[in-house]
Amino acid sequence: MPSRVVVLISGTGSNLLALLEQAALPGAPYAVVGVVSNRADAAGLAHAAAYDVATRVVDHRDFADRAAFDVALAERIDDFRPDLVVLAGFMRVLTAGFVERYAGRMINIHPSLLPAFQGLHTHRRAIEAGATEHGASVHFVTAELDGGPVIAQARVAVAPNDDESTLAARVLEREHRLLPRVVHWFTQGHLRLQDAQVWFDGAPLTEPLACDD
Ligand code: GRF
Repeated sequence: MPSRVVVLISGTGSNLLALLEQAALPGAPYAVVGVVSNRADAAGLAHAAAYDVATRVVDHRDFADRAAFDVALAERIDDFRPDLVVLAGFMRVLTAGFVERYAGRMINIHPSLLPAFQGLHTHRRAIEAGATEHGASVHFVTAELDGGPVIAQARVAVAPNDDESTLAARVLEREHRLLPRVVHWFTQGHLRLQDAQVWFDGAPLTEPLACDD
């Protein structure tokens, strides 16, 4: 049986599309069984529909506080019985209780070489800081925002004439290879979170896996 993957989005969903494309290949070790968005107008919901994947919307504005939103979100997610939850452009800060519920089975993709540039506007900040290298990271989600153990990274060189949008586009293209690769590894049983460290094939990683091609 393929592993059951649930993807959370808030927007365009190009990373979701990369996962849907990989999951549709013969012999894929996972299926995307559900997509949950906190916005009804997230363009990525159309990708899910195109692949006949069930979607749910849990609008954060319908809830009094974060905790109530997270309870409803967890209910929708758990309806899909996930083995892995993937945050792919999901733009909500999650409560510690929610994060704990999916400990070791929730990953996030973040557009920087963590621990550099946690938070928003990473491409602009990388350029402003004069970084010569930038990229994206996939990490296990812990209570610290963008702070969980990093599984794998894709690096790109920052060109002298890059602006925020050219750099973002180059990183995003790499994200579309990075995220499916990590989901593939996880759902084939290569990866786990133990003692706040990433383990790959039974040994702790000393540095994030490189996905530079
Ligand atoms: C990506 O850059 C991802 O790293 C970040 O949000 C963006 C989502 O893009 N967390 P998309 O919705 O997958 O196209």
